[in-house]
Amino acid sequence: MKVTVVGAGAVGASCAEYIAIKNFAAEVVLIDIKEGFAEGKAMDLMQTASLNGFDTQITGSTNDYSKTAGSDVAVITSGIPRKPGMTREELIGINAGIVKTVATNLITHSPNVILIIVSNPMDTMSYLAHKATGLSKNRIIGMGGALDSARFKYRLSEALGCPASDVDGMVIGGHSDTGMVPLIDKAVRNSVPVAEYLSAERMGQIVEDTKVGGATLTGLLGTSAWYAPGAAISELVRAIAQDSKKMFPCSALVEGEYGLNDLSIGVPCILGKNGIEKIIEIELNAEEKAKLAESAEGVKKTNDLLEGLLA
Ligand code: 2OP
Repeated sequence: MKVTVVGAGAVGASCAEYIAIKNFAAEVVLIDIKEGFAEGKAMDLMQTASLNGFDTQITGSTNDYSKTAGSDVAVITSGIPRKPGMTREELIGINAGIVKTVATNLITHSPNVILIIVSNPMDTMSYLAHKATGLSKNRIIGMGGALDSARFKYRLSEALGCPASDVDGMVIGGHSDTGMVPLIDKAVRNSVPVAEYLSAERMGQIVEDTKVGGATLTGLLGTSAWYAPGAAISELVRAIAQDSKKMFPCSALVEGEYGLNDLSIGVPCILGKNGIEKIIEIELNAEEKAKLAESAEGVKKTNDLLEGLLA
């Protein structure tokens, strides 16, 4: 498998590193606009090959998309990250133009590529990619829910005092500080609902901490996080590479699923060699349905901003 990662910043480089270490891809091409930056990151990563035991060939290029030709998967992390106090939505003015240009460049050289959109505001950038590329909807995957679910599991394991491998939980909805829907009533510890271990108040705190998981880290780091985003992206790429049919919440173009239309938003997806193989409609309780509908309204409001930006 050949994977292109656009943007050799912290998220892109972490994603490339995790893909290499998991050793399921033959080739990773890192591309960036900053002269020599992607080449340097690629060389540094390749110098870990003998230490980390991977065979993946990582190369870097300064904005030469011909080097990305024939990519099976392309990850778009390019654009500016948020600063403390910013929302993801505030990045749209700069990132929309970048994502449109990058997506167009990628499909010129890899017409059958599967795009994974990371740049924020991610749901709107995913929607933009659908509009800008005309790729079939299964070939555009927004990465947000996999990351948010990992943060949800972290908060659950922290509250329960157990390994993250003992818990399971999923976050659907928009990848935004206000629009995320952590499905707390469905979260489990070894198949037992977490409500059997945690008070309603504690569960409520876990939901709120999950929703601002990205903002919390931006406040601590002074910029967006990169390890968990990079790891989450690598797991989506692995599911495609291995045709694993694993389920992840991903931002997908919905056309009636969950009663929603004409937007990309986080819903449970089965991932495989064709990208989004299927959107799964799970049973939501009244509160979950209402929160998802409210989240969709928020994403659509951000989508509306695209018109003025890309005219
Ligand atoms: C995050 O939540 C970058 O949106 C990403 O960290």
